[in-house]
Amino acid sequence: MTATDEVFGLFAEFGSSNYDEGVTLTDHSLQTAALAVAEGAHDALVLAALLHDVGHFLQARARGNENYLALDWAHDTIAADWLRPRFGDEVADPVGHHVSAKRWLCAREPAYLDALSSASVASLAAQGGPFTDDEADEWRTRSGADAAIRLRRWDDDGKVAGLTIAPLAEYEALLRDRERSR
Ligand SMILES: [Fe+2]
Repeated sequence: MTATDEVFGLFAEFGSSNYDEGVTLTDHSLQTAALAVAEGAHDALVLAALLHDVGHFLQARARGNENYLALDWAHDTIAADWLRPRFGDEVADPVGHHVSAKRWLCAREPAYLDALSSASVASLAAQGGPFTDDEADEWRTRSGADAAIRLRRWDDDGKVAGLTIAPLAEYEALLRDRERSR
């Protein structure tokens, strides 16, 4: 099975899980990707946006449990480890940093912290809370940090119930091209 086929299989099997009120995990992933497209992100970053929560799918598959939000153990690094050999560093790095980007934004932008949803505030504590000044400075120098901060903002905005959005099939060619170029 190709990695692209595996992506389609994961979305088919686990994408209908609820992500937020009225929004499935598939809706959320597609909205995050659409925001990346709307901002003119390059192809690898669009795919990172589309696949940033694939760690939840993988956790659900591994545990035979569709309640993926209850399985939120390092879904960022699980996703990055899965994506890297399949779609490359440019896709894997921002995904691997997308939780850290939230901790960075909370440390550096007080308005960002104030605007987080209650669920996101709750998970922030489990994710280690806002970075300290030193942690924030060190993290910001990492490869993929810029892209991860952009991804994080799309992630936060990709939770609109009832939005009509481009389907997963719209990204098939991008996925296959990226996979073939590996
Ligand atoms: Fe997300």
